Amino acid sequence: MIRKINLKTGVLNIMQNLTELMEKIINEESIIYAVFSGVKNKSEKTFNKVTIKKVTIKDEVKHQFEYIYDKNVEHKNLDNDETFVEMYNLTKTYFKQVLINTVDADYHILISKKGEANIKKKAASKKAEVASHNRKKKYILNEGELTPFLIELGIMTKQGKIVNAKYDKFKQINRYLELVADCIPYLDKNKTIRIIDFGCGKAYLTFALYDYLVLKMGYNVEIVGLDLKENVIEFCSNLAKKLNFDDLRFEQGDIKGFDQFTDVDMVISLHACNTATDEALAKAVNWGANVILAVPCCQHEFLKKIKNEKMIPMMKYGIIKEKLATLLTDSVRANVLEIMGYRTQVLEFIDMEHTPKNVMIRAFFEDNTNIKKTVNQYKEFKNEWQISPYIEEAFGESLTSKLN
Ligand SMILES: C[S@@+](CC[C@H](N)C(=O)[O-])C[C@H]1O[C@@H](n2cnc3c(N)ncnc32)[C@H](O)[C@@H]1O
Repeated sequence: MIRKINLKTGVLNIMQNLTELMEKIINEESIIYAVFSGVKNKSEKTFNKVTIKKVTIKDEVKHQFEYIYDKNVEHKNLDNDETFVEMYNLTKTYFKQVLINTVDADYHILISKKGEANIKKKAASKKAEVASHNRKKKYILNEGELTPFLIELGIMTKQGKIVNAKYDKFKQINRYLELVADCIPYLDKNKTIRIIDFGCGKAYLTFALYDYLVLKMGYNVEIVGLDLKENVIEFCSNLAKKLNFDDLRFEQGDIKGFDQFTDVDMVISLHACNTATDEALAKAVNWGANVILAVPCCQHEFLKKIKNEKMIPMMKYGIIKEKLATLLTDSVRANVLEIMGYRTQVLEFIDMEHTPKNVMIRAFFEDNTNIKKTVNQYKEFKNEWQISPYIEEAFGESLTSKLN
């Protein structure tokens, strides 16, 4: 049973208050994280630090204790009663200091040589997030659920198993669909949604998009995948036919010269090289697309152009300069989209271990006209780096009229 204690007084001085506090936060299951430090009597066998975090194992809440030694780490998962006993022992015998983050407050606890506890209560600094040991992450596409396009692309076997060598691709497709799922509120279900996927390549992600929007979400769509390469267009067209993806077609062509439509709802450009991304963004904005997803690639444009005396300590190293040029290019693109009235986000597409091309620019048209500050910042930014971005040429009048 929880005993009521008053912790509003800020500093409390007796060990009893510490046991009462521990009992309360354990019973309420409100501990997010705790760390015990400052070992009283260090010997080779004692740990240097102990941490606690909450985990869910087979739907039961436990506290995971991590004991950190000089050279190794041990774990124990304890229920509430065991947690109380263990926390009590750790504070009484081993440590001088405890920091406990709970849902409601943070507690900084100092234990004196006489065993008295000084507890300071502060505003909560961490948000609860229960880690689960058994719950598998539910993806949009799941192993075991037969998915024809994944089978045809060699990612899933006919028995529904993900091919080992294609597991990263499978994860990438799922991550992409999660990012697409957030766009649903911006796609009107009462009409046929027109989508262009620029530089679609072998179109794993284009097929995934069709599968998700049409088969899972019930949208009417017209999706066009465009690519320079004749062979990939032929491959993708045949596959779309085989899968009966009737409203998906592929065309060969250059982004810059693609003028088939005057209005498009969603524009996608994933890993299109260098300034091809700028061409795709320009088309998207000038067509009034509601949603834009772009994962830039090989951002060489600024590499030879940037100049900034103050940044020489970074720019004198080739690799750093290259990364810097990439960041500057994508910052320019994201800001330009804001200037064009879009709510713009820069997100991680997939972790670095899978591909170094991991930044997605996602933008939703919100007709935002409050852009003066962003315009001024953008101009100062260009001056600072002495650049005239190609994106301005690609956009033409629609952008220059906002900058002047
Ligand atoms: C790295 S692949 C990416 C394929 C796919 N979007 C993906 O992310 O899995 C880039 C593709 O963009 C195409 N591409 C590059 N520049 C293009 C342009 N200006 N017009 C059309 N396609 C282009 C290339 O032919 C290539 O197939």
